Amino acid sequence: NRIALLGAPVEIGASQLGTLMGPDAMRTAGLKPLLEELGFAVEDHGNLAPPKNPMSHDAVPANAKHYREIQAYVQALSAKAHVLAASGALPIFIGGDHSLSMGSVNGVARHWHAQGRELFVLWLDAHADYNTPETTITGNMHGMSAAFLCGEPGLDGLLGEEPRASITTDRLDLFGIRSIDKLEKELVKQRGISLIDMRQIDEFGVGVLIRRVIDRVKARNGVLHVSLDVDFLDPITAPGVGTMVHGGATYREAHLIMEVLHDSGLMCSLDVVELNPFLDERGRTARVMVELVGSLFGQQITDRPTPTNAII
Ligand code: ARG
Ligand code: MN
Ligand code: MN
Ligand code: MN
Repeated sequence: NRIALLGAPVEIGASQLGTLMGPDAMRTAGLKPLLEELGFAVEDHGNLAPPKNPMSHDAVPANAKHYREIQAYVQALSAKAHVLAASGALPIFIGGDHSLSMGSVNGVARHWHAQGRELFVLWLDAHADYNTPETTITGNMHGMSAAFLCGEPGLDGLLGEEPRASITTDRLDLFGIRSIDKLEKELVKQRGISLIDMRQIDEFGVGVLIRRVIDRVKARNGVLHVSLDVDFLDPITAPGVGTMVHGGATYREAHLIMEVLHDSGLMCSLDVVELNPFLDERGRTARVMVELVGSLFGQQITDRPTPTNAII
C-alpha cells in the first residue's frame, strides 16, 4: 500500500503559463496527509526538473511548440515513471500541463507490458488531446498527448533512446469530451476510439458509463491508468485551469467516478494535470483536486465497507 508522488511541473505544452505551480499547490492543499490518513505509505519524490539540453537531434516537427524542451522532459519522465511503477508503489504524477502524460503513461506502459498486462488509459478531459502536428491548430503539445500515446505519426523521435510502449486505440477511453477540433474529431472517429461526450453523460449518467469502461478493462485482465485533466470538471467547480470549457462534470459526478474507480481496484497509476494556481481562486481548485484524489483512494462519506484497492 505504497504511493509514490512525483511533481511534473511542465508548463510549455500549453499556451497559458502557470501549471508550473501545480504540484506545489496540490501539496499545499494537503495531498500527502490525506493519503496517509487513508492508510497509504506515501513517498514524495519531489518535482522532476526539466533537463536543460535536448538529447535527440531528429528533425524538429513543425507545429509542435517547444518540441525540444518537451522531448527532453518526456524522456526523463518516462524513465522515472518506469522506475516508480516497477518499485511496486502506485505512482501519482502531478502536473504540469497534459504533455507530461506522454512520459508518465509511456513509462508505466513499459512496466506493465513487461509484466504481460495490458495497460488501459482513461482520459478524463474536456478535450480529446488527439491532435498530431499535422492536425493541430494551436501547436500546443498538451493537445497531442493521447495521439502520441496511441502511436500516431508526427512525433516519432520524441522518446529518443527511451523505449516506446504505445497503447492500442482500443485501450483508450476519452471521457467528458466537449471541445474537439475538426480534424482531431475525424482522426478519433477513423481510429474507432471510444469517446464519451457530455451528451452521452447527460443521457445515461456517469455511473453507467464509467462501469462500461471498467468492465472492458476487467474482461481483458488489464490495469488502468487514469489521466485526470482539471478541465474535465465544470469551471464553476474548478476555475484554476487555462483551458476551461463550460458544461463539464459536476463535483458530484466527478466524485462518483472516483468512487467507482476505487471500488474497481483496477487503477495502477494516475496523472492529475493542468492545475493552474495562477488562475485559481484562493486555492479552491487545488482543494477540489485533492478531494477527488481522496475519493479515488477510498475516502467515503459513510464507513460502509468497500472492496480493497489491491490492484496487483
Ligand atoms: N484541442 C486544443 C489544442 O490542440 C486544446 C487542447 C487542450 N488540451 C489540454 N490538455 N487542456 O490546442
Ligand atoms: Mn521555446
Ligand atoms: Mn488534457
Ligand atoms: Mn483539457
